[in-house]
Amino acid sequence: MPRYAYVNGRYVPHNQAQVSVEDRGYQFADGVYEVVAVVNGRYADLDRHFTRLDRSLRELRIPWPVACPVLRMIVDELVYRNGVNNGTVYIQITRGVAKRDFRFPDNVKPALVVTARSQSRFATPQQLAEGVAVITIPDIRWLRRDIKSVSLLPQVLGKQCAAEVGAFEAWQVDAQGFVTEGCSSNAWIITENGVLVTRLADNSILNGCTRLSLLEHAATMGIACEVRSFTVDEALHAREAFLTSATTFVMPVTRINTTPVSGGRPGPITMGLRDAYLNALQDKTP
Ligand code: PDD
Repeated sequence: MPRYAYVNGRYVPHNQAQVSVEDRGYQFADGVYEVVAVVNGRYADLDRHFTRLDRSLRELRIPWPVACPVLRMIVDELVYRNGVNNGTVYIQITRGVAKRDFRFPDNVKPALVVTARSQSRFATPQQLAEGVAVITIPDIRWLRRDIKSVSLLPQVLGKQCAAEVGAFEAWQVDAQGFVTEGCSSNAWIITENGVLVTRLADNSILNGCTRLSLLEHAATMGIACEVRSFTVDEALHAREAFLTSATTFVMPVTRINTTPVSGGRPGPITMGLRDAYLNALQDKTP
């Protein structure tokens, strides 16, 4: 089946999809994005992703390139054309194409790219059976991490460091020693007393759509939750740890740097939350 991408008003073969060298996303990382999972033909947290996209655009004063319902139709069409039953949709909006100048250009139209790809699975059986390792690194990012901007260089460097030591993710740590979040995921622990802990979503982290859904599931399941920061040391002594994102859902963390956590095995609360999240997706209408 040929793969298509949507680029500024046209569905084009993916391998021929192109953007201008003067696109401000390319020149200045002047743009935002969203990644949405498709699971058995259903979108995961689509409304939350659209709400966050709207917020990111507003914060950067980039207008919507098309009305929100039209974007939804484009996403549907692309998923259909590419036959994606399980996979991810990527939406990127930049300020547009203009002669290179730091200031906002006049009369520029925002640029919209949507891609969709099939994925046979979101986690390997080994990752689910054994959990994944994370490393900790200093958080060197800007102070508007609440905006899902395409400026991702610290995360690229962080993920590469993790990969080079066989870890799945790098948890970024602020100047006070508190974990902010992963390079492309939110960070969570479960304390000795069974309390779920995740950082307050202010400007220091991206407010994950998976995070928001999971907080609701935890409440339904009667799991006590504290929205507060935790240190690396607290994480090392946690009963369980995990990370969340649109591409991993709930991924158990069983090693932080060189130390096993959660007894080196995915914890039952973590896996219960993962099941709850995935089961709820199946219950939704497509
Ligand atoms: N990343 N924090 C950061 C820095 C992220 O990049 C992401 C998602 C998250 C989790 O957000 P959500 O649950 O809405 O996916 C937290 C996506 C998956 C990416 O860049 O590929």
